[in-house]
Amino acid sequence: MSKNVVVIGTQWGDEGKGKIVDWLTDHAQGVVRFQGGHNAGHTLVIGQGASQREYKLNLVPSGIVREGVNCYIGNGVVLDAGHLLYEIDGLEKAGLEVRNRLKVSPGCPLILDYHVRLDKAREAARDPERKIGTTGKGIGPTYEDKVARRALRVYDLFYPERFAEKLREVLDYHNFVLTKYLNTDAVDYQAQLDSALSKAELLQPMVTDISAALYEANKAGHNLLFEGAQGTLLDVDHGTYPYVTSSNCISGQAAAGTGVGPGMLHYVLGITKAYTTRVGGGPFPSELDIESTDSPGFQMSDKGREIGTVTKRKRRCGWFDAAALRRSARINGLSGLCITKLDVLDGIQELNICTGYELDGKRVDMLPVGADDVARCKPVYETVPGWNENTFGVSRWEDLPANARHYLERLEALCEVPVDIVSTGPERDETIVRRHPFSL
Ligand code: GDP
Ligand code: IMO
Ligand code: MG
Repeated sequence: MSKNVVVIGTQWGDEGKGKIVDWLTDHAQGVVRFQGGHNAGHTLVIGQGASQREYKLNLVPSGIVREGVNCYIGNGVVLDAGHLLYEIDGLEKAGLEVRNRLKVSPGCPLILDYHVRLDKAREAARDPERKIGTTGKGIGPTYEDKVARRALRVYDLFYPERFAEKLREVLDYHNFVLTKYLNTDAVDYQAQLDSALSKAELLQPMVTDISAALYEANKAGHNLLFEGAQGTLLDVDHGTYPYVTSSNCISGQAAAGTGVGPGMLHYVLGITKAYTTRVGGGPFPSELDIESTDSPGFQMSDKGREIGTVTKRKRRCGWFDAAALRRSARINGLSGLCITKLDVLDGIQELNICTGYELDGKRVDMLPVGADDVARCKPVYETVPGWNENTFGVSRWEDLPANARHYLERLEALCEVPVDIVSTGPERDETIVRRHPFSL
């Protein structure tokens, strides 16, 4: 029987989802994106030594680097067609066969030039403490158009007259906001129309009813992997609102963003760094200083190479936050955890784990809802001993130092979810499996 596994970020993104999706793809015949857009940046490192290759993916599912695996972009994804074609081109130049294996939903809302302009102009207009620090890719404004029922979708590209008519109406509205409210330049109608329609022919062969395709794939016995982008604490409903992205990033979205029934999702894997990072604005209770060389935050930033793939900003770093994870575990219905980047903590003498907060004089043991309360949370830490041994590349649980195993067991107990996988390096083999999601 076919099996479907959902891979979700449980923190503020960049947990190492791409590496784990690629690693799990040896058990799957299809990989599916179901939310977000090219704000995501997933780095895959394949092979060792001189033959090692690194792939950076934004929109194309991480399954693409495995030969013969089908990749699907579901209706929940907002699509910048120009970026997709650019990414396909890059992968083809690297020798991968992409177009025959990539399928795109006709229902994806299109990211157009005015979305990008709105995103950037709004960020520029916010006062410094209130900046969200978006990736500037037009994600938020495109999701707004979707729920306002005025988005142009992939499907519209194949009806040029109707596209032109709809574009006229929506652009009139957005140009009014751009020029009169945000004091910036309007987007030229004809240039936008020509640039959008010029991509239709290249996209058309990949456009498929994704819900139907996934149903058929399962019926044929194929295992599918649902690849989350961003992370639970960036979810538009459950995250640290308003410092979030504009999509639902949680496991339930794997169903809504593809047209697969929730009963078809068999296992939810929560990807979690052994510490915490965040890019952009918003509260972060267990945050550490990343600039002073004697701060553990410096080691996380430096050794963990914590620089954003999409915007090249330094990621903020902090201790593992079990109280935030507890919320993520419940929202996603996690079946198991995968703890990544354990190796980055090697040599830190004592590790703090945030187990709860003090909020307005009261102790709470789960991350509150919304940014205002989170910003007032003072972390409460439990301190556990670190380890001096090198864990980089360790691939067996019993080869981990005892203190590293204790640390992982403590996280497991605090989060109330089993640690099924541990990642000790960016490469495929640098992975420890305790329970395999596809063999449960
Ligand atoms: P994603 O957005 O969740 O896919 O994560 P990113 O790719 O943005 O960031 C994770 C980074 O950590 C990438 O550069 C990976 O190559 C790297 N990485 C993943 N797992 C590990 C690990 O266990 N150890 C180390 N040192 N690096 C890792
Ligand atoms: P992956 O898939 C980390 C953050 C941005 C910003 C907020 C809103 O690589 O884990 P947006 O452009 O989405 O409107 O920005 O969300 N953000 C991410 N942070 N990893 C990501 O993706 C992110 N995608 C968006 O930094 O704070
Ligand atoms: Mg990333």
